[in-house]
Amino acid sequence: MKQNIYDNETFYTLYDEMRNDDKKLSANDLIEIPTIRGMLPDLRGKRVLDLGCGYGDNCAYFAESGAKYVLGTDISEHMIGIAKSTHMNSNCKFQVLAMEDISSIPDKFDIVISSLAFHYVEDFDKLLKDIHKLLKENGLLIFSQEHPIGTGTILNDACNEEDCIDLGNKNYFLVSDYNVNGKRIVDWNNCKVVKYHRNFSCIINTLQRQNFKIEDILEPTPSDEVLAKKPRYKNQFDKPYFLFIKAKKL
Ligand SMILES: C[S@@+](CC[C@H](N)C(=O)[O-])C[C@H]1O[C@@H](n2cnc3c(N)ncnc32)[C@H](O)[C@@H]1O
Repeated sequence: MKQNIYDNETFYTLYDEMRNDDKKLSANDLIEIPTIRGMLPDLRGKRVLDLGCGYGDNCAYFAESGAKYVLGTDISEHMIGIAKSTHMNSNCKFQVLAMEDISSIPDKFDIVISSLAFHYVEDFDKLLKDIHKLLKENGLLIFSQEHPIGTGTILNDACNEEDCIDLGNKNYFLVSDYNVNGKRIVDWNNCKVVKYHRNFSCIINTLQRQNFKIEDILEPTPSDEVLAKKPRYKNQFDKPYFLFIKAKKL
């Protein structure tokens, strides 16, 4: 079942506020975006597909980095509407399309990228099978997702994700249900948001089963520069927010 929460006004009003904060201190700005961009190969002359492209900022970056064709797709009309109006002068193309339906794309790509969107898709095998077909020979898949150490935990009403206990001057975070893969419903931006938890072995084994060779896995920690701007992110040494994988089509 697909959920299109980014077209829900209650949700996107708060999400847009968080992402458009001009202090640029979100974990997206300080950690996720620099890490995924750092994993890119030389994009000159390449054809790139961005799945769950959101506002299209990465797409514009790929085009500025020399990609000859960039297609950004997203389930949300709201996000694609902003992508089109913000980047109308770039040579990127944007399309409302769910990741569950990408087999309808007629093109082939050198690189498929996705930032923080795969955990919204239930059938990871099918998603990877469809991506495999869209990639040219030796094509690359580069994606980030919420880290499985965080997506598994089922919290009751009295707890939230940032809760931790201090023992001997150190933070210990809550983890539960890590080895129970499947649907999670989390409270975010005053909405019930559906995500799918997959433990590490499920992610790795599904990539292998769908004929991808893993080239790189990152669980980034904040640099000193990031910590100076946002000291709270030191908690990522204990519990990373994001997982990044680069894999090649076999
Ligand atoms: C956390 S945002 C990330 C957006 C963008 N990639 C970025 O990094 O700024 C997740 C995006 O995934 C999109 N999304 C969620 N479920 C989707 C689905 N089933 N198919 C396509 N896009 C989806 C949302 O609409 C949203 O734009």
